[in-house]
Amino acid sequence: MPRPWATLGVDLHLEPTGPGLRRGLTDALREAVRTGRLTPGTRLPSSRALAADLGIARNTVADAYADLVAEGWLTARQGSGTSVAVRPVSPPATGPAPGDRPPSRPVYDLVPGTPDLSAFPRTAWLKAARRALAAAPHDALGYGDPRGRVELRTALAGYLARARGVRTHPDAIVICSGISHALRMLGQVLRERGLTSLAVESYGLDVHWGLLEGAGLRTVPLGLDELGTHIEELNADDSAGVRAVLLTAAHQFPIGGALHPERRAAVVDWARRGDGLILEDDYDGEFRYDRRPVGALQGLDPDRVIYLGTASKSLAPGLRLGWLVVPPSIAAEVVAAKGEVDWSCGVLDQLTLAEFINSGAYDRHVRSARLHYRRRRDALVAELARRAPSVRPTGIAAGLHVVLRLPPGTEQAALRAAAWQGLAVHGLHRYRHPAATVERRDALVVGYGTPPDHAWSGALDALCAALP
Ligand SMILES: Cc1ncc(COP(=O)(O)O)c(C=O)c1O
Repeated sequence: MPRPWATLGVDLHLEPTGPGLRRGLTDALREAVRTGRLTPGTRLPSSRALAADLGIARNTVADAYADLVAEGWLTARQGSGTSVAVRPVSPPATGPAPGDRPPSRPVYDLVPGTPDLSAFPRTAWLKAARRALAAAPHDALGYGDPRGRVELRTALAGYLARARGVRTHPDAIVICSGISHALRMLGQVLRERGLTSLAVESYGLDVHWGLLEGAGLRTVPLGLDELGTHIEELNADDSAGVRAVLLTAAHQFPIGGALHPERRAAVVDWARRGDGLILEDDYDGEFRYDRRPVGALQGLDPDRVIYLGTASKSLAPGLRLGWLVVPPSIAAEVVAAKGEVDWSCGVLDQLTLAEFINSGAYDRHVRSARLHYRRRRDALVAELARRAPSVRPTGIAAGLHVVLRLPPGTEQAALRAAAWQGLAVHGLHRYRHPAATVERRDALVVGYGTPPDHAWSGALDALCAALP
């Protein structure tokens, strides 16, 4: 099967097996240099890193590099690896003059939202999948319970209590295909309960607001300061009718702060007083680097908080596995909505994740991923201090993204400069709720988790080159 060379984000297709592999890799690399997609001076990943990423033998990559060095497209120097030759054979005769247009496709991806997919624990996952399937009773392959497999709900109940301070039991958990699916179901349930609006944070994911609005709920943005979301606005006179709020309490997305303890207590008080509900989006709760993660808000009041979790950051979004922990007062409605939408999540992945958690592989993977992303974040902060001191990383040391505050009025220019560097990254403006009244901030939202290892230093270079 031809495999896109995702590493560089360009449309190079390789045959990972068979006698043509070395030739295919050599041709693809040569073409990338010739057309300017790999620019002069670009440092290539080590043969070991690229081979691991492509799932091929290291010698094949080393041979392809050697061929291209011999042809003059690449240079190799002891101790500094392999780079694109500064003046490769000859520049393209036609094509855009330098300075005309940015590369048509980004070479580096720092868009927030996706973990390092090359670090997915394939071997351990396969082992868990084999064990899970071998042990599964025949009836596990039927339609089953709309809440999802009991094996996974049981494993999650233990894990969430231990790792996130969630107070629950398997019967209160509903497996779904990610937090977006959970929000679609909750939107429907809340609307059917007669709610017409729901409070959200001033900055967040438009896809989530869209899902809630699609269910017929108006989303009302709350203000924000350095202590987090303005919970007191829920009590304001003009908020009459708002009886539910969606929060990313442990790590505000995308701004990056943790909700202040007094505000955590205040939102639970508000919910208790007015029969309110808190939807807690705990998308990256495992990843905190400077201290133990703050426990889930749900632990403060399991009757008032609907906890939403996902495997999208800790493992991979393509799994489409998430979970809700629901208070008894709303459980039947959520289960009914789940059965109505469809029964979505495939049982084999559910059973595999249960086995993955029970065997300890999930904890091991999260520990190693935490270290990986922490090193990335530290490297990013150190490099910025050295090369772009006017740019300030903000927020707590957590998650897979960081917000870089820019001098006022420079966000668009930074985004254009990033495109010129072949870098895909987002500006903060795109995450601002259309009805938000909080001060506009110029910033980049940098997802440092996404690039595979060998593309990381190139991505960091491109970012620093794009910043003022
Ligand atoms: C704030 C936030 N919540 C939730 C998610 C995960 O959504 P899902 O579980 O649907 O993949 C993301 C992923 O980007 C996110 O940024």
